[in-house]
Amino acid sequence: MARLREKIAIVTGSGGGIGAAIAERFAAEGAHVWVTDINGESAEETVRKIKAQGGAATAMVVDVSKGQDVTALLRNIENAHGYVDIVVNNAGVLVRGEVRQLSDADWTKLREVNLDAILRVSRDALPLLRKSKSASLINISSIMAHRGLRPLAAYTATKGAITALTKGLAVEYAPYNVRVNSIAPGYVETGITDRILKLPPVKKALIDKTPMGRLGTPEDMAGAAVFFASDDSLYCTGSELAVDGGMSAGL
Ligand SMILES: NC(=O)c1ccc[n+]([C@@H]2O[C@H](COP(=O)([O-])OP(=O)(O)OC[C@H]3O[C@@H](n4cnc5c(N)ncnc54)[C@H](O)[C@@H]3O)[C@@H](O)[C@H]2O)c1
Repeated sequence: MARLREKIAIVTGSGGGIGAAIAERFAAEGAHVWVTDINGESAEETVRKIKAQGGAATAMVVDVSKGQDVTALLRNIENAHGYVDIVVNNAGVLVRGEVRQLSDADWTKLREVNLDAILRVSRDALPLLRKSKSASLINISSIMAHRGLRPLAAYTATKGAITALTKGLAVEYAPYNVRVNSIAPGYVETGITDRILKLPPVKKALIDKTPMGRLGTPEDMAGAAVFFASDDSLYCTGSELAVDGGMSAGL
């Protein structure tokens, strides 16, 4: 343990689900984690859990789709630490509906939170990442970046863009010694999948499609995030790791 000793980390959308599990695991591995979420109460709750385990964390309300929130976060981190080692672009939303049914507002929301925000955070955090001795930027994509799934074409388009953006940023940031990788979760039981997984036939069908015979847990994703955040992945950049119980291998 303590693979992230003395590192400073940001995890967006870490008030619940995958982000909270990543934040808790990072703290258990020795990092000081900035737990950020659009929902302040849930961010405080994650920080309470981390502190109860003896970890270090700071909660902050950050809507990643608002430039001024991201600027305030980075300013606070600069004042507190002067640098950041790890940034996890995890915050995301899911809007269900076939493309022909989606409004411009639906698409704008998906794009602003799932894609534009990653571009903004990645751009604006670069000066602080460059001051780290071993910087790692991690984007949460999806195995659906590579597949069609009804009725999620617009959501999966944002995930495909994240996968492509990760590779582009990896090439651009390598000269600055900043690694950029992505994690592609399979189906994980969280707030985003709650509605769909409440339908027993859908849940069973997804488990049947998963060679390992179970859905993922947020903690499964946290293990992959520690790998990319730590010096165990020093020669990885532009990589995407599917964490999906074999689902994408078997489709
Ligand atoms: N659960 C899955 O099966 C699955 C699969 C593939 C990818 N993902 C991706 O994993 C990431 C985390 O999702 P999750 O499954 O934990 O869902 P979740 O809904 O449990 O967590 C998402 C978190 O992001 C926060 N958030 C939403 N909009 C935000 C904003 N504008 N600014 C800041 N925070 C915001 C929410 O408050 C919430 O705490 C997302 O990017 C999602 O697309 C999830």
